[in-house]
Amino acid sequence: MKPTIIAIDGPAASGKSTIGAGLARKLDYLYFDTGVMYRAVTWAALEQGLDISQEAAVTKLTESLSIDVKPPSQTDGRQYDVLCDGVDVTWAIRSPEVDAHVSPVSVYPGVRSALTAQQRRIGLRGNVVMVGRDIGTVVLPEAPLKIYLDASAEERAWRRYAEVQARGDRSQTYEDILANVKSRDAIDSRRATAPLKAAPDAVIIDSTGLSIEEVIAQVEDLIVQEP
Ligand code: CDP
Repeated sequence: MKPTIIAIDGPAASGKSTIGAGLARKLDYLYFDTGVMYRAVTWAALEQGLDISQEAAVTKLTESLSIDVKPPSQTDGRQYDVLCDGVDVTWAIRSPEVDAHVSPVSVYPGVRSALTAQQRRIGLRGNVVMVGRDIGTVVLPEAPLKIYLDASAEERAWRRYAEVQARGDRSQTYEDILANVKSRDAIDSRRATAPLKAAPDAVIIDSTGLSIEEVIAQVEDLIVQEP
């Protein structure tokens, strides 16, 4: 039996998106990246000139926003369109400014509960690969297959640096990205609400030194083993 919900969690740039999207394609499941929702809220808060430290204002904004993920409308390397109140923010949510502020925004319990409710609704429909930080622990703890994907901070930063360079963004050095990855990991794993951690029944895969295909093959082996 194929598990109908696959939860993939892990630290920044651990390959969750690539592995999750590849797996969803193979299984013909919906791929849902919860990180885009936290990024979209952060983009909207910055766009409106909100002070990110104002928890009540950021939470109120989250509750009023309509975030949508749709099939890609353009062939510019995107996997999907991300719309925030109808505005295409697919690339804007990948900016260094959003990278710098998204983890503080993601600490707020009110922001999390608004987004978690939407994610859970989508996940419970099944045939889904959902990726994030708290999918196996909070959003969909009933997922029959939970993966926690890890890799060294240096390797993760190299992977993200290569992605950023491939998009033609020359504004960030490898060191900038490594610093952001480490700072987000620290905030994401220390927060009180839904911290980044492996669920007790998650299978931990360290992808340091492994190719995308090798990691997908490991997950596929786990699917075959499911009773
Ligand atoms: O792609 P990358 O791993 O760099 O990050 P992401 O998955 O797009 O997530 C961006 C940020 O959103 C994370 O650093 C977390 O602060 C937050 N996030 C979260 O708190 N919970 C989730 N389920 C997904 C993302």
